[in-house]
Formats: sequence, C-alpha cells, structure tokens
Amino acid sequence: MARRRVRTWAAAVATGVLVVVVAAAASAAAVVVEEKLMVEMALVPGAASTGAVCLDRCPPAYHLHQGSGAGARGWLLQFEGGGWCNDARSCAGRARTSLGSSSLMNKLETFSGLLSNDPAMNPDFYNWNRVKMRYCDGGSFAGDSEFKNGSLVMYMRGQRIWDAIITDLFLKGLAKAEKVLLSGCSAGGLATFFHCDDFEKRLRGVATVKCMSDAGFFLDVDDISGHGTVRSFFNGVVDFQCFFPQYVLRSIRAPYFILNSAYGVYQFFQNFVPPSSDPRGQWSRCKAALSGCSSSQIATLQGYTFVLYTDL
Ligand SMILES: *[C@@H]1O[C@H](CO)[C@@H](O)[C@H](O)[C@H]1NC(C)=O
Repeated sequence: MARRRVRTWAAAVATGVLVVVVAAAASAAAVVVEEKLMVEMALVPGAASTGAVCLDRCPPAYHLHQGSGAGARGWLLQFEGGGWCNDARSCAGRARTSLGSSSLMNKLETFSGLLSNDPAMNPDFYNWNRVKMRYCDGGSFAGDSEFKNGSLVMYMRGQRIWDAIITDLFLKGLAKAEKVLLSGCSAGGLATFFHCDDFEKRLRGVATVKCMSDAGFFLDVDDISGHGTVRSFFNGVVDFQCFFPQYVLRSIRAPYFILNSAYGVYQFFQNFVPPSSDPRGQWSRCKAALSGCSSSQIATLQGYTFVLYTDL
C-alpha cells in the first residue's frame, strides 16, 4: 500500500509538470496561429417563468457554436468559472458585475482552447457543438434559494439555471447527441462534479456522457497554519458538507477526468496559503514565481496534491 501511494504521488507530480509545459506550448502557438472566433450570447427563453434567474433576476445566458460534419452530434458543454459569493454582502456586490447579471456580460465571447473551431488548436472538438454556459448565480450552478430583506432581493438559482439551459439545448439538438463532454474550469470545474451524474442519466441510452473538471478539485484541507480557511469559506456558500468534490466523486458513475496542477493558483493562494496563514510573508516570493519557492515549500504544496491522489 505504501509503495503504491508513493508511485501515485510521483505520477501526480509528473502530471502537474506536464500540464504546465503543454499549456505554455499551446499559448505560444495560439499567439501565432489562432484566429479569434467570437460567438454571440443567447438569453435562455422563458427561463424567468421557472425561476431560473441570475443574482439580479436577469435571465441566464449561454453561447453556442454549432457543430458540423462528423462533429454534428458531438456536444462540448463548458461551465464558466469565476469564484463564489458567500454572504448577502458579497453576493450583492457580485450582482452588479458580469458574474451576477446577464445585462452586464459581454455579448460576444472568444471561443478558444477547447471551444476553438480551429482543427489545429482543438483537434478533438473543433467541429462539435460547443457551448459556454455563463456563470451568474455565485454558487457553481448548484444553489436554489433567494435572499430578501427590507432593501435587497437576490436569487441564488444555479440549479434552475442549469436545468433551463439544458432544457433549451435539448431543443437545439442536444437531445440527439451521440457524444457529450461536460467540462468547466475552477468554480465551473466544481460545477461539473455537481451535475455530471444527473446529466448522464438524462442522456442515458442516447449519448455517451463524460465529464472533465479543470482546476475544480477544491480540497477540504487545513491551510499551512492549521486553520480551516476553505471549509469556513465554503460553509458560507452552502451549509452542507458534501460541497467538496473529494466526497461527491465516490458516488459519480459517469467516466470522469480530473486535471489539477499541484500549483493551481486559486487553491494555493486562497486555501492552502491564504494571507491570514502567512502574516510574515514567508510565502511571498514563492507565490510570485515557483522558482522563488524553497524546497520545503515545494514539498508542502506537493503534499496537498498527495492528499488529492490518495483520496481518489
Ligand atoms: C439588507 O442586506 C444588505 C446586505 O447585507 C445590507 O447592506 C442592508 O442594510 C440590509 N437591509 C436591511 C433593511 O436590513
């Protein structure tokens, strides 16, 4: 068992390094090669009647670029990411941004990376139907509640937004899909954990559904000073404990790919080494560039990844 763990740990580190290299190569190529594909935003029709609304009560939105040829029955769905709000104050602030209101979103989105239509950049999915689902509920497309006091009304309706978008996409061809990949990055990567299985169930017998989370495996761990920084933050976002993917994953049946660098910026800066855990700034150089990390700091960061891999 111990030997197996060590090997898994080594694989984890190798994967983290590989991811960085590939990403750097891809972005260098993108500067030279890729032409920008801009895709128009669509508001979800009738969503308001089912209570599927953004924080500020605007309708939810997505961007769809139609598939073609051999990809016509492939669907790649991507949840937009962008952190969370965890109380009335932070959600009220968010409702006045593009992450809380479709009225403030840019109406054209650049489709790059997995959303690109360039076969050289995106050989697997370039001709699939590709959808970017806009994030405006503040809770990884998972909540279903509202907040009212004398002066403020807000809607945390991520679950209804997800249902409304999928229902609309079914009418636009998703019902006849053959292959589907549900994906997302960061808060959007977390959303894939919540919706992978109910989505797979909806399409069972019709399409093969797989899911992929990119930088969304947020660990339930103490920070370097022993405080439950991430747990108390997420407790504010939802008040039940299985928000963490490490607990949800065990019950997911559909095939699932997890991409998580050992040095993912959000977890590193906000959860593992939040400013409150490092009052003397001993991690500042390491946060600025990995080359500024001491060997014991690298070991600490890789230790968190070890938790991730042994938990699976
Ligand atoms: C409603 O909640 C907001 C956000 O917490 C707060 O700023 C405001 O004062 C509250 N209004 C009332 C009437 O309690």
